[in-house]
Amino acid sequence: MKITINSIEYSANPGDRLLDIAQKNHAHIGYFCGGNALCQTCYARITEGGELLSPINETELEILSTNLVKAGTRMACQATIEKPGTITMVSAIEEVKQMTQTAPMQLPLYMGIMGWEAAIMLPRTIAMQIGRIQEGELNLEELGRDMTDALVAAVASVFQLLFPKLSESKKEADSGGHQ
Ligand code: FES
Repeated sequence: MKITINSIEYSANPGDRLLDIAQKNHAHIGYFCGGNALCQTCYARITEGGELLSPINETELEILSTNLVKAGTRMACQATIEKPGTITMVSAIEEVKQMTQTAPMQLPLYMGIMGWEAAIMLPRTIAMQIGRIQEGELNLEELGRDMTDALVAAVASVFQLLFPKLSESKKEADSGGHQ
């Protein structure tokens, strides 16, 4: 099946988590906490095929406001494909990037709205995260590892963006010069 992330089409299968598809294909998406439902940078607006995804889960309900849910927002680290079909999504981080390039004047309003939607959910979100820590659901050691991995991947992406030629040479050297 096909999934379009930020206007680029990729292959996916039922059972795949949205974040994993995006990461595997180097699609532009935030995942600073490494997929542990903490950083809230993995928001994605599903514009087609939302019904093919796993139902919104309890973690998302404690983090995403009603307005964001109504707008089709999911957390890519929480949503998994359940049925085959066509899915189209745009990550929040890509929306910000595009807005910065095409309509920077709209950025403060967008950030204000997103900030407000996060603020109204904050008490519930904090209570839920404290509960996760108390129940041992959040392993701080694993979390540290995941965040380090996410940081390394983010630095690599920025490097690739800034120095595409160097990155290509490195990839060729890593593969022994074979294509
Ligand atoms: S990846 Fe951090 S909240 Fe989803």
